[in-house]
Amino acid sequence: MVTTDRLTGWLAPSISGEPRYEALASGLRGLILDGRLVPGVRLPAERELATALGVSRATVTAAYDRLRDQGYAHSRTRAGTRVSLPSSIPQRPDDVDVPGPDDIDLTVAALPAPAELPSMIDRAMQRLPPLLAGHGLHPLGLPDLRALIAERFTVRGLPTRPEQILVTQGALQSWDLLLRAFTRPGDPVVVEQPTYPGVIDAAGAHRVRIRPLPVSTDGWDLSQLSGAVRGAAVLVHLTPDGQNPTGWCAPVEARLELLSELAALPSSDLPHRPMIVTDETFSELRLEAGNPARPLAAFEDSGRVVSLGSMSKPYWAGLRVGWLRGSAELVSRIASLRAGLDLATPVLDQLVSIELLLAHDELVRARIEQLAANRDGLLASLATRTPLWSAARPQGGMQLWVDLAGMSSTRLAESARAVGVRIIPGPRFTVRGASHDRWLRVPFALPAERMDEAIRRLAAVAEFDQRVVTDGVSRPSLSWTA
Ligand SMILES: Cc1ncc(COP(=O)(O)O)c(C=O)c1O
Repeated sequence: MVTTDRLTGWLAPSISGEPRYEALASGLRGLILDGRLVPGVRLPAERELATALGVSRATVTAAYDRLRDQGYAHSRTRAGTRVSLPSSIPQRPDDVDVPGPDDIDLTVAALPAPAELPSMIDRAMQRLPPLLAGHGLHPLGLPDLRALIAERFTVRGLPTRPEQILVTQGALQSWDLLLRAFTRPGDPVVVEQPTYPGVIDAAGAHRVRIRPLPVSTDGWDLSQLSGAVRGAAVLVHLTPDGQNPTGWCAPVEARLELLSELAALPSSDLPHRPMIVTDETFSELRLEAGNPARPLAAFEDSGRVVSLGSMSKPYWAGLRVGWLRGSAELVSRIASLRAGLDLATPVLDQLVSIELLLAHDELVRARIEQLAANRDGLLASLATRTPLWSAARPQGGMQLWVDLAGMSSTRLAESARAVGVRIIPGPRFTVRGASHDRWLRVPFALPAERMDEAIRRLAAVAEFDQRVVTDGVSRPSLSWTA
């Protein structure tokens, strides 16, 4: 059951419209669609929620009725009202099925495959025949691929041997494997807040105690580091390059400061040193001139820093190939663990990854040019169409963290569905799903014209919602379309 306190906090920004029951139903629907209320969860009793929200019981009854009619809730005698999902909608906005032809999906920060991919696949197939004689299971990854990944680390300033690389099915799987290997339920684990929802969901699945380290477009709030790691955090998950969602790229000074703050903590605060996991998924996508920053592990020789990377952002997320870099001992320990889970990463995807990495410089240069143009186009659209919203210009990654000037992103995400735009509201990037509601993550993986159309639609619903909030006009169902 979701506690009434928590639900009230989540709903507060989005229930000011009229009629009240519609606004409440819409707020609850938003929470269901963005994954904060999962199917099966019991909603508070009507009377209790009414008191907590300061509305009449009839309002809550009507809102629950509305949800039931739409398939977002069901009730059984003595089992209360529970969340459900209508069969025709995707489970949550970041888990969409095929969008409609005119829908704009801004829930995923990942580029379409490069145009060269089909020819790379043809070339990769030429590497296949010698492998066909074997069983095809390589829990550590294909040697050629491990060597190429190690070389990328070395080029970025962190000398690496192939034995230090484990090929996985993505950075997220690497994170999951580390949680499996090093945590037990209840252990403290630190993640940035806001951060990519997959990082939080994977930690939640291992039932660890998740502690947030605040991060913004200006970087980590290191004044809160000791509070976050207190009680001996086991793992600290950081994304120093193109942080998702803020887009922040940690300069060298910030990397050094973080490590020295951690080293300086007294043993009463930190009896054993946590493992620092740096998710460098976006590290090759530095949008400004200059090389990618040196990996965090290059500044720490204790072996406590493990780096994660992936083909997903520079190349194509459909490959499901990522990696983990650590000591050779760590790599073989995690490889034995993963052998009992998924055995190995698919050989064909690894062969394609080899071809892509061999063409790294040319392919990634084109990606960076494309992303920098998308970013600047999106910033221009925001400046023209939603002048009250603001966003920093990130030097990496592929997302803007947009300050909505007080608007609720939960509410906006819900309204945006009516105009064919799918977005994930800010709170989905937080540990408890309760804060950052006036922020919106907007990926710029789509071309500038498409992004401009998305912002045009968002501006229209935002203006509409704002009028509803400020004038208290009754809120008809949205029928505006692009
Ligand atoms: C910080 C971060 N880690 C991991 C992932 C997922 O990576 P992969 O596709 O390699 O599992 C993402 C994708 O958005 C991400 O932003």
